[in-house]
Amino acid sequence: MTDQLRYDGRVAIVTGAGGGLGRQYALLLASRGAQVVVNDLGGSVTGGGASPRAADLVVEEITAAGGEAVANYDSVEDGDKIVQHALDAYGRIDIIVNNAGILRDRTFHKMSQDDWDAVYRVHLFGAFKVTHAAWPHMRQNGYGRIVMTSSSSGIYGNFGQANYGAMKLGLMGLANTLALEGAKYDIQVNTIAPIAKSRMTEGLGYLGPEVMDALDPVRVAPLVAYLCHESCQENGKKYEVGGGWMAEVRWERTQGVMLPLSHAITPEDVASKWDEITDFTDSTRPKTSADAFMSLQKNLGT
Ligand code: NAI
Repeated sequence: MTDQLRYDGRVAIVTGAGGGLGRQYALLLASRGAQVVVNDLGGSVTGGGASPRAADLVVEEITAAGGEAVANYDSVEDGDKIVQHALDAYGRIDIIVNNAGILRDRTFHKMSQDDWDAVYRVHLFGAFKVTHAAWPHMRQNGYGRIVMTSSSSGIYGNFGQANYGAMKLGLMGLANTLALEGAKYDIQVNTIAPIAKSRMTEGLGYLGPEVMDALDPVRVAPLVAYLCHESCQENGKKYEVGGGWMAEVRWERTQGVMLPLSHAITPEDVASKWDEITDFTDSTRPKTSADAFMSLQKNLGT
């Protein structure tokens, strides 16, 4: 049996922690000793309105159970204020779970720029703002654990979620590079694509009550907490998690085809090689840009 993973002395910011998944992350981290900034704007699922109630209730729950937490009601778009609040309350920042989110689902032909911008501002820009404000403190402390929240909609696509999917995959891209830039300061940045019953997934009711009950957000929190622990040495990784199931995701690539450089490459050359270009037999799984570039270098004989 592994010793209990504890977070004593660690300060965590969990954005969008007034309900759904974020609430479970905040409860779990606080129950194991972390001091938690429970951030939530308290608006609707589409991003309208604001209320302190959601964050307050979670803080009450944490303190009633003997944990330590403060409520923060700023939008993640003002991530610097959330970080300042954490510093004022607890003097440091060790953990960030970028979790806040909204939906503006519409098919692309009906999507307005406002639908695009609103989803961008909460998911991608919000995570940028919080993380960017905390980054210098984490670098200075030589420690950080950051989790970005992606989605299967980003990884695989989902009808009616062009805006959301784009931002969710963008978060993975952000994490990929932050993982590299943070590594020497022991700042680790990983990404999850969760699936859970929440107000955001009410539309999945057709899956039936049994499946929906299995998708309790409480079953996602342990993976997030593990990624936020000092003993976890994963960095730049991606996980799908929900309903008690958890798995790592990685990129896969075909061996590819090197066309002769002795003459101009034509679309017909591409067509004639299509089966080979797309043949996943003996596929490879590049982990870094250097890995990815190596196949070309090998083929060029350099
Ligand atoms: P939720 O709607 O219960 O939680 C999101 C929270 O973010 C809400 O409490 C909301 O008030 C807060 N929030 C929204 N805009 C904010 C802002 N500007 N600043 C601060 N807080 C803000 O939904 P859920 O399901 O718990 O979602 C959590 C995260 O997980 C989101 O990023 C969502 O996109 C992602 N996700 C959820 C999935 C699921 O199956 N529930 C699937 C894939 C991703």
